[in-house]
Amino acid sequence: MEPIRVALLGAGSRGTHVYAAYAKAHPQEMRIVAVAEPDDVKRQHIVEEHAVKTAYAVKDWHDLFVVKQDFDAVVIATQDTMHRDAILAAIEKQYHILCEKPIVTTLEDSKTIARASQNFSKVFVISHVLRYSPFFTRVKKLIAQGELGRLIGIELDECVGHIHMSHSFVRGHWNNSNTSAPMILAKSCHDMDILLYLAGSDCTSLSSYGDLYHFRQENAPEGAPLRCTDNCPHYEACPYAAQKIYLGKNTAWPVDVITTDLSVEGRLKALQQGPWGRCVYHCDNNVVDHQTVNAQFANGVIATFTMSGFTMTTHRGLRLMGTQAELIGDMEKGIITINYFSSRDKKTIEIETTREGHSGSDELFVADFVRQVRANNTNGETSVASSLQSHYMAFAAEASRLENGKRMQVADFGKQE
Ligand SMILES: NC(=O)c1ccc[n+]([C@@H]2O[C@H](COP(=O)([O-])OP(=O)(O)OC[C@H]3O[C@@H](n4cnc5c(N)ncnc54)[C@H](O)[C@@H]3O)[C@@H](O)[C@H]2O)c1
Repeated sequence: MEPIRVALLGAGSRGTHVYAAYAKAHPQEMRIVAVAEPDDVKRQHIVEEHAVKTAYAVKDWHDLFVVKQDFDAVVIATQDTMHRDAILAAIEKQYHILCEKPIVTTLEDSKTIARASQNFSKVFVISHVLRYSPFFTRVKKLIAQGELGRLIGIELDECVGHIHMSHSFVRGHWNNSNTSAPMILAKSCHDMDILLYLAGSDCTSLSSYGDLYHFRQENAPEGAPLRCTDNCPHYEACPYAAQKIYLGKNTAWPVDVITTDLSVEGRLKALQQGPWGRCVYHCDNNVVDHQTVNAQFANGVIATFTMSGFTMTTHRGLRLMGTQAELIGDMEKGIITINYFSSRDKKTIEIETTREGHSGSDELFVADFVRQVRANNTNGETSVASSLQSHYMAFAAEASRLENGKRMQVADFGKQE
């Protein structure tokens, strides 16, 4: 079978390290035949690695949509606020679509995409990759097999990790809801989606609390300058000192996000001039650093979710409470433990976690996209229609948070006027 021909929109972190990397590793499945990326270094890297013809290597994705081109699918890996227009252009030109999450950043745009994709007859999936993780697929199977009896409650913890928090949500791309999206959407639409997946039912109502508690101007230690590189007197004590995060031995994520010049001089220059050298207490951030959601599903399942930037490491923790047993799991450690009430037996299941990219989920997700395109299967695990439900939950949670925990009916958010 011929590989599917893909246009890559955005050759940043995800575009390069997930989608182009997949094509490189599986040339018989997927070929990058076009790339849109304004950064010359990043674009040229894709051109050389994938032998993209010059006419198909452009700075701005719009230039690939002037006429219908000779590719099968588009991968939309630009920043969040750019997804909407690219999706609408791809629907118009009838390409299969793989779009990064979040689909869009506003409720109004979610409804626009819901309308525009209603009669779309091509594949259109969202990168809610956790549905492909060996951890969550195993948990889902255990629920379906009745291992826990009837599922009553879900506790899901998204431990963002304090360094990831500072990199992405205080200094970085997703630090301000006016230029990206609220944290519960930008980061946790994955988790809203996983709650829907595990509950196996629509979310009916929810409430949420949370705020930007710590990374604020008024919490800056006395005398902290605007940039870490301006002789900050708190360098030793501060876990967020930019030099400690970006000038060490690691040159992979998150360091490769701040510059394409990964020499020490290149990185230092990026800290002195770019957003990642700013003091975490002197940024233009407004997204929350801690938020909880309480959700109820149509089949009676109740879920509690906590997203926090105040954790040592980045991982997801899970506890499922069933009538016959409880399940405790950690996605990154790949360990699932089930405690059975009547026998008092304990079963431990170890899941392979050595693979990169959300514990292997990224690769499995792209592989399934290729299969779906080849079969024109529009009913995939992370179809746009199913993914939009997680967005309605996120918008409801954000509205609730802003109204101090008011109970919201999720269906009100998905309604078309
Ligand atoms: N699925 C996941 O788990 C996951 C994880 C991280 C990020 N994301 C999402 O993936 C998307 C990309 O994130 P990223 O970390 O790769 O960001 P990034 O900033 O590294 O990449 C975006 C790229 O788009 C390019 N771009 C800007 N304007 C463009 C234009 N007009 N035409 C074409 N390209 C243009 C930028 O130069 C940049 O290289 C975001 O929506 C993000 O939220 C998803």
